[in-house]
Amino acid sequence: MLQQQLVDTIMMVSNTVIMICTGTVILLTIDWKIFLFVVATAPVYAVMYRYASEVIREISLELRHTNTCLWGFVSQKFDALKAVQAYGRERLERLNFHRLTSCFLRDALLQQRASAGLGRSAGIVGSAATTTIFLFGATRVMAGRMTLGEMLFSYSTAASLFGPVLELAQLNLIFANLGVTMQRVADILDTPLEITDAPDAVEFPSPVKRGFSLQHVAFSYDPENEEVESVLTDVNLHIPAGTWLCVMGPSGSGKTTLLYLLSRLYEPTHGSILVDGIPMKKIKTDSLRMRMGFVPQEAKIFSGTVRDNICYAYPDARPKQIMAAAKAAELHDFIMDMPVQYETIIGEKGTTLSGGQRQRLSLARALLTSPEVLILDDCTSALDADT
Ligand SMILES: Nc1ncnc2c1ncn2[C@@H]1O[C@H](COP(=O)(O)OP(=O)(O)OP(=O)(O)O)[C@@H](O)[C@H]1O
Ligand SMILES: [Mg+2]
Repeated sequence: MLQQQLVDTIMMVSNTVIMICTGTVILLTIDWKIFLFVVATAPVYAVMYRYASEVIREISLELRHTNTCLWGFVSQKFDALKAVQAYGRERLERLNFHRLTSCFLRDALLQQRASAGLGRSAGIVGSAATTTIFLFGATRVMAGRMTLGEMLFSYSTAASLFGPVLELAQLNLIFANLGVTMQRVADILDTPLEITDAPDAVEFPSPVKRGFSLQHVAFSYDPENEEVESVLTDVNLHIPAGTWLCVMGPSGSGKTTLLYLLSRLYEPTHGSILVDGIPMKKIKTDSLRMRMGFVPQEAKIFSGTVRDNICYAYPDARPKQIMAAAKAAELHDFIMDMPVQYETIIGEKGTTLSGGQRQRLSLARALLTSPEVLILDDCTSALDADT
């Protein structure tokens, strides 16, 4: 979109410059005074558009903000539709939705009104200038200082120059809009990546021989803020290779956080995590993700086929591998009962899955790469007792 906007702007500027140059040469050849009338309108347009661009920029920013709030609200409430109904909050949510749409409409109308007002004012200035040029030309013809042909030709050339002059003045406005878009792109690009590879990063040790070691690991979700308590403090742990470790604790005690650290989805605030003696920071993220399978507490299903969902992390997987992962997660039989088996669309617009089926699918996704290390975050909570 940004690229399209830039290309359109460059095309418009080149056309405008060619038109203005040609018109200038014609007018200067016939009568330089008529050219002066055209030139005199340029500062008026410039001042008008400069003022308008500031106003329109502010409205654009506000509009973008209300747009983000509106879509965020809609997607959040759609996700929690059943909870909204279960707590009987439909009326309140409808009210919130109306409030947000009214704000959005107000800003959109303000933007349209500002642009329309500017267009009208520019039209008035243009009409006044062309009328003046016409009257000036007419007096010159009556005085015998210009032929009727010259007068009409210079009048039509001057009139056709107002369009390009206006477009040049509009550049301010285009740049104001482009600025808002660029600012957003810059904000996203400037957001520091939390997890990056060290220049001397090495491959994940495969097979893991000794295991994982946590040394004085501490973690806070907001290390800058001293009032926010650390979730984990001074955790020392050794998980030998070839063993299963089960972490138990009350809700909110930091189990998921610990698993995020082990998967390097977050970095410890203090201390370090070593795999076979290599600090995790020194391991290439890609190879770590490939060798470690993580099944999150909440199974995420994407809109697409069953196959797409299982091979999310490994799109080149062969059908045999996909089936093996589904069998291991005890999902294969269920998939075979679906209308078009592995090609059945699930997620937003397709078949919806039960909580247990979602967890099995999430498990199959993690098992697909035959990971060296498997991290399961309470991922059997929705499975039946037999499983
Ligand atoms: N993204 C986050 N930002 C700030 N605080 C968070 C975030 N995620 C979790 N916390 C806080 O960290 C603490 C530990 O959360 P965590 O999810 O690790 O608990 P848990 O042991 O997995 O709980 P449960 O058994 O309910 O899954 C909680 O107090 C929680 O409020
Ligand atoms: Mg948890």
